[in-house]
Amino acid sequence: MKRVGLIGWRGMVGSVLMQRMREENDFADIEPIFFTTSQAGKPAPDVGKEGVPALQDAFDIDTLKTLDVVVTCQGGDYTSAVYQKLRDAGWQGYWIDAASTLRMVDHSVIVLDPVNRNVIDDALAKGVKDYVGGNCTVSLMMLALGGLLEQDLIEWVSPMTYQAASGSGAQNMRELLNQMGELKDAVSDELADPSSAILEIDRKVTDTMRSDGFPTEHFEVPLAGSLIPFIDKQLDNGMSKEEWKAGVETNKILGRSDNPIPIDGICVRIGAMRSHSQALTIKLKKDLPVSEIESILAKANDWVKVVPNERDATIRELTPAKVTGTLSVPIGRIRKLTMGPEYISAFTVGDQLLWGAAEPLRRMLRILQE
Ligand code: HSE
Repeated sequence: MKRVGLIGWRGMVGSVLMQRMREENDFADIEPIFFTTSQAGKPAPDVGKEGVPALQDAFDIDTLKTLDVVVTCQGGDYTSAVYQKLRDAGWQGYWIDAASTLRMVDHSVIVLDPVNRNVIDDALAKGVKDYVGGNCTVSLMMLALGGLLEQDLIEWVSPMTYQAASGSGAQNMRELLNQMGELKDAVSDELADPSSAILEIDRKVTDTMRSDGFPTEHFEVPLAGSLIPFIDKQLDNGMSKEEWKAGVETNKILGRSDNPIPIDGICVRIGAMRSHSQALTIKLKKDLPVSEIESILAKANDWVKVVPNERDATIRELTPAKVTGTLSVPIGRIRKLTMGPEYISAFTVGDQLLWGAAEPLRRMLRILQE
C-alpha cells in the first residue's frame, strides 16, 4: 500500500478531491498521511479507516521524504517552496500537483488520462515522477473534443470562454454573490412593484455597480451584471496567460508540443459559480457530416455527452446550472459554419473543480497503484 501525503486538502480544490476520494473509496487502498501548514498535531480528517496519524507539518522535508506519493492542492507557492528542496534531499517519490508551477517543465506530464493515458504510460515507463493537473478550461475542452483529437481531425480551434468565478478562488465566489446581493438590494422596492419603470431599475443597478462601495476587492471590477474579458496575467504578446495555456497545455497533454495544433481565443470571466463554458470554432482537416462528428465525440470517453443542436435540449442540458457538481461534460451546438464545410461550431460546459481540477489527480493516484 502506498504511503500518500495529502496537502491542501482543506481548500476548495482539496475539498472536492477529498469528496471524490471518499465517494470512490480511494482511501481504502492507500496509507493516507494528512499535512497542514498551520495545525500540525491536530487530528486528521475521518476517512473511514483506523490508524491515520495526526496532521503533519507540510514543510517538514524529513517527514515528506517518507512518502511514496505527494498529492498537493496547496497551490503554487507551496510547490515553489517545497518541491525542489524535497528532490534535493534525494526524494524519489511521485509528485501529483494541482498547481500550474510545474506544468510546463520538461520533467512533468500534464495528466488527463481519458485523453492522454498513452503519454502517462510512456512517462511512467521512462521513470517520470512529476504529474500535474492541467488548466481547468484546457482539461474540460479536451474531454469534450477527445474523439476529434484522438483521430487527429482538428486543424485548429478557437475557444471563446465563459469562465466561472470559482476559477479565481473561493473568495471570488463569495464576492460574486455579494455583488449580486447588492444589485438586488439597490432595487428591491422597485422590483416588488410590477408597475415600476425598468429603465429606472437599470439606472439604479448601473449606479450601484459603479459606486465606490460596490464589493470589488477580489475581482477589482464588477462581475455581477457585467463580465471581465481578461483572465490571469497579461503577457507581452497581447495574450492573457489563460489564453496562452490553451495552446501550450493542450499540445503538451497530447504529447505533440513539437507539432502543435494552433489553439487560440479569448478567455472571459462571467457570473457563473463553478462551471466553465466555452464556445468553440473548429477547423477540421476534412469535411465530415455532423452526424459522424457527433458519433466520434460521443464515443471518446464515459463523461462526454453530445447534446443535439436543438433549442430545448440545449437550454436544459448545456448550462452551468445543469452540469455543476457532476462529472458530465456535455458538448452541443454542433453545426457547420457558413465559412465552409470544414468549419464547425460547438459549445461545451464542465465543472471546473471536478474534471477541471480534482478528478485527474485522484485518477493519477489510482494509475500509480495499477
Ligand atoms: N485559471 C482558471 C480560471 C482556473 O481562472 O478560471 C483554474 O485552472
